[in-house]
Amino acid sequence: MIQGGTANTPIAAIPAAINTKTTLLLGLWASVDQAGFTNELTALTSAINQYGTAFTDLIVGISVGSEDLYRNSPTGIAANKANEGVDPDVVANYIAQTKAALVGTAASAASVGHVDTWTAWVNGSNAAVISASDWLGMDAYPYFQNTIANSIELGNSTFFEAYDNTVAVAQGKSVWVTETGWPVSGPQENQAVASVDNAEIYWQDVGCALFGQINTWWYVLQDAAPTTPSPSFGIVGSDINSAPLYNLTCSNGNKPVPSSSTSSRAAKTASSASAPASSAGPNTESVQASPGPETSPASATLSQTTAAGSGATSVGSAPGTTVSAMTGMTTTVVAGKTSTTYQTTLVTITSCSEGCTSTASMATTPISSGTAASPPASSVATAPAAPSGSVCPANLNGEYQYPHFIVPVNSAMPDKAYGTQYNGTISPSISTIFNFDLPQSYAGKICSLVFLLPEQAALETSAYTLSAQGGITVGKLDFAATEQTTYNSAKQLGFHPVGSIASVKPGNSYVVSSFACAAGARVAFEFESTGGLDLEYFQDFNPSPIGAYITTC
Ligand SMILES: *[C@@H]1O[C@H](CO)[C@@H](O)[C@H](O)[C@H]1NC(C)=O
Ligand SMILES: *[C@@H]1O[C@H](CO)[C@@H](O)[C@H](O)[C@H]1NC(C)=O
Ligand SMILES: *[C@@H]1O[C@H](CO)[C@@H](O)[C@H](O)[C@H]1NC(C)=O
Ligand SMILES: *[C@@H]1O[C@H](CO)[C@@H](O)[C@H](O)[C@H]1NC(C)=O
Repeated sequence: MIQGGTANTPIAAIPAAINTKTTLLLGLWASVDQAGFTNELTALTSAINQYGTAFTDLIVGISVGSEDLYRNSPTGIAANKANEGVDPDVVANYIAQTKAALVGTAASAASVGHVDTWTAWVNGSNAAVISASDWLGMDAYPYFQNTIANSIELGNSTFFEAYDNTVAVAQGKSVWVTETGWPVSGPQENQAVASVDNAEIYWQDVGCALFGQINTWWYVLQDAAPTTPSPSFGIVGSDINSAPLYNLTCSNGNKPVPSSSTSSRAAKTASSASAPASSAGPNTESVQASPGPETSPASATLSQTTAAGSGATSVGSAPGTTVSAMTGMTTTVVAGKTSTTYQTTLVTITSCSEGCTSTASMATTPISSGTAASPPASSVATAPAAPSGSVCPANLNGEYQYPHFIVPVNSAMPDKAYGTQYNGTISPSISTIFNFDLPQSYAGKICSLVFLLPEQAALETSAYTLSAQGGITVGKLDFAATEQTTYNSAKQLGFHPVGSIASVKPGNSYVVSSFACAAGARVAFEFESTGGLDLEYFQDFNPSPIGAYITTC
């Protein structure tokens, strides 16, 4: 947060990010005493006051600390004598202070987490930090794991073992990859050879498995200017304008998102905010499970994100889409400026690009308040986190569920029960709760909560009004909504953040969260506005589908 050489002035990366519409994972340095951390908070709140939503709309998340717990462990202390970490209760306390500092600000909905090595996350003594965090940022470098077999051939399995181990302790919270990469040059670490060829293999095996699936910040776009460090992880050499050192096209078709959303179709991009000067400079430790270099202020981080963002799958009907099974429910929608009135019927869309072999999962039940009984108390299942890398499509081409209850709650009318609606509303005062009923047949499958917002022109039977730009944060509820749910009573339903979309843009689809399907159970999610978003839309799975769905795979 803090500009180098100042006490608590916001870092100059922020106006640069605003100018380039580059999203930000903010970092507050936490291996400091209270006075030092208060300076971080001052810089954060000053930046919010100074730049307003132009800044807060770009925030993907806020990390309190980076590798503080690793540097607090025996291996970390040995490798970082001059840069000690802090105890987990200190980090948890600083997270609470950060959340408190955000209340009532334009960044009040920003998710707050912590970044550390996977070894620190799986250390049970650090569980308080997991409990305090909205998400976990994991740093992992098989290259540095020099006390185990770590040739490039094992890079993929070593990385995903670390990721899976972190997911297993994450208490259902999202695990982001906040640093990984393989060096293009530098010393050999046990069997790990630093080379351009191996960096490319690691990019393909690990990066391409993550891009478009899991929030990922790659280490690093450039670290070789003005001098090349050893090891060097940069994708480009000393000239930022030169071609990458290796082919970045993913052979599996996945794509990293460019770091500026001004490029075409970038749903949401992210850039790693720089670490404070106190952590700058590459680490040189070479111990098992050691992290890689901290992001230095001078380095640029190639960035990529998806979770809340960018599966960036285009919406629309695929070849082979068939429309069938009319339910007989009719409603009238005014579509955009043309004021054309459409008579529409809720239908099943069965879409199988390879030809249909199984039946679509839904649509025998129309979206109707009459068909979904009030759920029994505590009927909402807890969903364990999905296995790593498992994210279902952000489209309705495969099996999916639409919400059986769409219940708005309004802070301006806190005791009004709206009952279930056709429209979803996500505005500064109105949040919407969606109840989904997951069939027994989903047992053992992965479910993804997705949010689709097509271009107006792609809508045939629906409409939406986007009155103000902004984002969405989504919480999983402990209990489903009922017809009686009000803003006040909804406070009893619990709210556990599972994902967010920094900036909702027409023409995009977003995977909000993925989890093991709670087969046979009712699951409920609340969508809250962030950064001023004011969106009302008619939830409809006709082409192009719009709104909240759960896809399965
Ligand atoms: C586990 O975490 C605690 C608290 O951060 C730390 O004191 C301890 O050294 C860690 N243990 C290992 C083996 O890293
Ligand atoms: C990476 O590892 C996973 C899990 O072991 C495996 O399914 C996948 O095929 C591997 N990918 C590559 C490119 O080796
Ligand atoms: C980069 O890789 C892609 C996918 O494997 C391939 O189609 C393309 O030709 C490669 N580009 C170059 C310049 O080698
Ligand atoms: C639902 O939203 C659409 C799009 O904003 C709007 O035209 C329509 O009037 C809304 N319907 C109701 C019942 O509020």
